[in-house]
Amino acid sequence: MNGDIVVERLASAADLDGVLDIEAASFNNPTTREWYDGELQRPEVCFIYVMRTAAHPVAGFCAFWRVAEQIHINNLAIRPELRRQGLGSRLLQEVIAEAARLGADRATLEVRRSNVPAQKLYERAGFVQAGVRRNYYTQPVEDALVLVLKRDDSSA
Ligand SMILES: CC(C)(COP(=O)(O)OP(=O)(O)OC[C@H]1O[C@@H](n2cnc3c(N)ncnc32)[C@H](O)[C@@H]1OP(=O)(O)O)[C@@H](O)C(=O)NCCC(=O)NCCS
Repeated sequence: MNGDIVVERLASAADLDGVLDIEAASFNNPTTREWYDGELQRPEVCFIYVMRTAAHPVAGFCAFWRVAEQIHINNLAIRPELRRQGLGSRLLQEVIAEAARLGADRATLEVRRSNVPAQKLYERAGFVQAGVRRNYYTQPVEDALVLVLKRDDSSA
């Protein structure tokens, strides 16, 4: 399956519809179309990538901000029926590689304390916990774990 996968920047209104479908299927309070419309107006800051497979024009997506030498991952999700096949890991690897190409040597994100699948995904990619934001989320109220990935330059 991996041979058929492409990760590229969101390119069309149909891509945005695909992202919003996954948002709706993944989160209690999904990020809105208005947020995406606004962020698409500043492509030098907000980078939105879609993952395509042969069968799915939008199998997953990731949105991140580039701020100075770091990226902040706002959102990453895979279509529910395509999970546990390695797609999330592949998408995250592509995003980290893209961040490096953009000159970012650090990635940060917040994740719900109860979201063990996502925490495992990020841990496997080398993220470590850097802090906790108490009651950061609503619907339901929950702490956020702050995770950080620093590029390892020891082999450079
Ligand atoms: C988190 C998410 C992106 C993972 O995508 P995925 O395609 O299933 O991830 P992968 O198949 O690459 O799994 C990578 C690893 O993550 C962990 N993992 C993924 N889903 C898991 C689950 N339901 N339970 C436990 N661990 C899980 C496992 O360690 C897994 O490796 P393994 O399958 O070899 O055991 C997906 O579950 C998702 O879209 N969730 C909803 C949105 C979300 O919570 N996004 C994160 C917001 S910060």
